[in-house]
Amino acid sequence: MKKTATLTFSDGSPSIELPIEQGTYGKPVIDIRALAAQGYFTHDPGFTATSSCNSAITYIDGDEGLLYYRGYPIEELAYKSDYMEVSYLLLHGELPTAEQKMAFVQSIRHHTMLHDQMENVFRGFRRDAHPMAVMVSVTGAMSAFYHEDMNIFDPKQREIVAHRLIAKVPTVAAWSFKYNEGQPFVYPQNRMSYAENFMHMMFSTPCEPYEPNPVLARALDRIFILHADHEQNASTSTVRLAGSSGANPYACMASGMASLWGPLHGGANEAVLKMLDEMGDISRIPEFIARAKDKSSGFRLMGFGHRVYKNMDPRARIIRETCYEVLDELDLRDDPQFKMAMELERIAMEDEYFISRKLYPNVDFYSGIIFRAMGIPTSMFTAMFALARTAGWVAQWNEMLSDPAHKIGRPRQIYTGSTRREFVPIDRRGA
Ligand code: CMC
Repeated sequence: MKKTATLTFSDGSPSIELPIEQGTYGKPVIDIRALAAQGYFTHDPGFTATSSCNSAITYIDGDEGLLYYRGYPIEELAYKSDYMEVSYLLLHGELPTAEQKMAFVQSIRHHTMLHDQMENVFRGFRRDAHPMAVMVSVTGAMSAFYHEDMNIFDPKQREIVAHRLIAKVPTVAAWSFKYNEGQPFVYPQNRMSYAENFMHMMFSTPCEPYEPNPVLARALDRIFILHADHEQNASTSTVRLAGSSGANPYACMASGMASLWGPLHGGANEAVLKMLDEMGDISRIPEFIARAKDKSSGFRLMGFGHRVYKNMDPRARIIRETCYEVLDELDLRDDPQFKMAMELERIAMEDEYFISRKLYPNVDFYSGIIFRAMGIPTSMFTAMFALARTAGWVAQWNEMLSDPAHKIGRPRQIYTGSTRREFVPIDRRGA
C-alpha cells in the first residue's frame, strides 16, 4: 500500500491526506500539491526541504558522499570515460556505442565556431571585464543569433541547441580570456579532443606551434566530467525556472551562468585561491580557521561545506588526486599553495566546529590549484566550471521540456508588507 502522510490542524480544520512519493533512490518526498486546493501553501526559503521536479539525470547521496550520473558512479566515469561520453550520457540517458559516440563528437566539432559577428560582441567590452561577465553576455547574445528558427518543443531542435552549446561555450570561455589578455582570438581546432581544443584556444598564439600536454588535457577532461552536472543546484534550478516559461535556451543558459558566478556556488573556486593568496603561509591557518568560526566576521572557509554533502564531496577526493598528477607532471609537487590547502584541510577536519557541522572540502577546494598550475588565471576559474556545467544545464533543460506535464515555475510567498492603505498625494506626504 502506498504510504501517505496526514496533516492535522490545531484549530480542528479537517485533516489533509498527502501521498508520499519514492524515487529510485533518495528520501521519501511528501507530495504537497493538494494543499493549494485546500487554501494552504508551504514555506521553504532556500528550498532546503523541497523537491522541484522529477529527474532521471543525477543522483546525490549527501550522507554517504555518492554522486551518480544516470546511475553510473562519478568515480567510474572520471577514470574510465571522457567528457564527450559523459555529455552524451547526460543528454540521452545511456552511454553511447562507438558509432553513436563518433557521430556525437563529429556533431560537436561541427558546431565549435562562433558566428563571425559575435566577435563584435566581445569587442564591446572593456579589456579588463571579468570573464564571467563576458560569458553571461555572449552566451545570452547567442539567443540573438539562433532564435526565430527554433521550436523548443521539437526534440530534434533541442538536440541541436544542446550540441551548439556544448560545442560553443568553450570557444566563448577561451575568447573571454584572450580578450582580457589582448591576444588574438584563436579558432577551434577540430582535429583535437574537446579538452585539447580548449587548451589550444586558451594558450596558443598565431606566432608559435602549440601541442597540448596530454596529461594536462586528461586532467582537464576529468575536471569537466566532475563538474558536468549536480542535480537541482542553484544554477541548474535557475536554468529550469527561466526555461519553464518557454524562454530562449541560450538566454536560459546565460541565467544559469549568472547564478553560478556567485561565491557561494561556482564562484567559490576563485574565492578559494584568493583566500589562499591572502593567507600566504601555513602559519596563518589557525587565524583563518578562527575567523571562519567567528560568525561576526562574515568570513567562511571557501571550498568547505555543501548544501547536500554532509560527508566528503566525492568530486573533491578525485580532484585532490588529479591535483597530484598535474603538479607531478609540471614538477610543482612542492607547490606551497597545494601544501597550504592540504594542511588547511587536515586542521579543519580535526576541528570540532567543522566536524559537528559536517563541513568537508568540496569540489572547488582543489580545482583552483590545478587551474593555476596549468596557467589558467584565477578570474577564469568560474568560467571553467560554467563550461563543464553546460552539458548538465542543457540536459536538465531538455528533460524539463520533454516532460508533457511540465509547468511554468511559480513559487508563492508569505506576504509581510503593509495592509491595504489609501494613496496619499505627494503634497500631503511626510506631514
Ligand atoms: N565556513 C565556515 N562555516 C560554514 C561554512 C564554511 N565554509 N559553510 C557552512 N558553515 C556553517 C554555517 O555558518 C552554519 O553554522 P551554524 O549552524 O552555526 O549557523 C552551518 O555551517 C550550516 O551552514 P549553512 O549556511 O546553513 O549551509 P548551507 O547548506 O546553506 O550552505 C554552502 C552551503 C556551500 C553555501 C556553505 O557551506 C558555504 O558558504 N561554503 C563556502 C562556499 C563554497 O565553498 N561553495 C561551493 C559549494 S560546492 C560547488 C558548488 O555548488 O558550486
